[in-house]
Amino acid sequence: MPDTLTITDNRTGRQYDVPVADGTIRAMDLRQIKVNEEDFGLMTYDPALQNTASCRSGITFIDGDRGILMYRGYPIEQLAEHSTYLETAYVLLHGKLPSAAALETWTEQVTLHTMLHENIKHLMRAFRYNAHPMGVFLSTVGALSTFYPDAKQIFDEGLRELHIQRLIAKTPSIAAYAYRHMTGRFYVYPDNDLSFTGNFLNMLFKMAEAKYRPNPTLERALEVLFILHADHEQNCSTNAMRSIGSSQADPYSAMAGAAAALYGPLHGGANEAVLRMLEQIGSVANVAGFIKRVKAGETRLMGFGHRVYKSYDPRAKIIKKTADEVFEVTGKNPLLDIALELERIALEDDYFVSRKLYPNVDFYSGLIYQAMGFPLEMFSVLFAIPRTAGWLAQWEEMLADSEQKIARPRQIYTGSEQRDYVGMGER
Ligand code: SDX
Repeated sequence: MPDTLTITDNRTGRQYDVPVADGTIRAMDLRQIKVNEEDFGLMTYDPALQNTASCRSGITFIDGDRGILMYRGYPIEQLAEHSTYLETAYVLLHGKLPSAAALETWTEQVTLHTMLHENIKHLMRAFRYNAHPMGVFLSTVGALSTFYPDAKQIFDEGLRELHIQRLIAKTPSIAAYAYRHMTGRFYVYPDNDLSFTGNFLNMLFKMAEAKYRPNPTLERALEVLFILHADHEQNCSTNAMRSIGSSQADPYSAMAGAAAALYGPLHGGANEAVLRMLEQIGSVANVAGFIKRVKAGETRLMGFGHRVYKSYDPRAKIIKKTADEVFEVTGKNPLLDIALELERIALEDDYFVSRKLYPNVDFYSGLIYQAMGFPLEMFSVLFAIPRTAGWLAQWEEMLADSEQKIARPRQIYTGSEQRDYVGMGER
């Protein structure tokens, strides 16, 4: 049988054979379907792009029904077990595991760019003490585009690589400065002797000690959390990164937009929303009543559900295991029991089962972050740091894709017919 779709337009009786490739038809192949020569031709209508492939990508594979997630073909479970965030970032950007020498060079290059321009401190001082750190983060990422004007040369491979290293290296520093600003503490400079996550903990929590010694369990927990959050194919913020990047904006400006998309409570802001929900529930005894309100449509069970995963998010499983290891060090987060009871009830209740609502990456991650001492407002920033690698890998792939051009969707016009301007006197 041919790989085609035969479409009969009942308005005209005409038939069209449209090629099927990779489980898709090309939307542009529908434009030939017209009722007369003046007709623009058919378009697809797909609000929120729920059934539209916007690109070809070899970076991340998700099977939502089977709960499979792979970066460049490597299962997320194996990367979380054996890899580090910087090695995973290399995999996302370069397509395969690095040799020992390549990883050493990559680590050195990133480590050398962790410092921020001193003016960033003055920029941050402009924010109120209670400014949300994600607003500070995305503003500062955008501001960095003014410090590196040559980032506009996006087709210069060497410059592109340099700015990718800068963004991966500087996002933890920006996050740490934002945290120190909101807590009224002095800024801590990077310590290049430490690992990527060890230095991040240093810049966040170092006080009067001569040299900060990160707790190895917490350092490794952050590595795992960063690996799990590094990419997730065409999610909302990656779509923003690709769309902004398609106008050939520089990567700092594109990433400021991606971070803005991640900020939303339905996306990367969900981990903060989960903790607020758990605190609002307050005790295990109140869980049944809360579930009733969710089922009545009065509120959402934050940290549950996913556009792609219609089974348990594989990342949530790994995070749950990591939580136990962190709680060994920090003490158990008292909100954990409420989360476990919510999950127990939801996984048995037909309202959630029929809608295929399972815990996603955000359901347990916040419990770990809070136990590690992070305020709720920092959680979406902790998501943005590792997603930087994914955003940049997707951005580079888009630039290299000869099929891509500036993103400019069409619309169905629902506004007024033409009408004449009426002077103020006649209104
Ligand atoms: C992330 O895309 C990615 O990959 C994102 C991410 C990544 O790594 O980049 O995985 C990270 O953003 C994870 C998702 C974090 N967000 C939340 O936890 C917020 C709570 N979840 C939802 O709001 C929702 O599940 C979404 C936004 C995640 C997905 O929404 P969809 O696919 O648009 O589904 P929907 O809103 O159309 O819901 C379908 C049905 C509806 O019920 P009915 O109208 O059919 O009766 O399921 C219900 C919804 O009301 N529903 C929920 C629910 N999520 C969906 N009901 C209660 N609680 C929820 N959490």
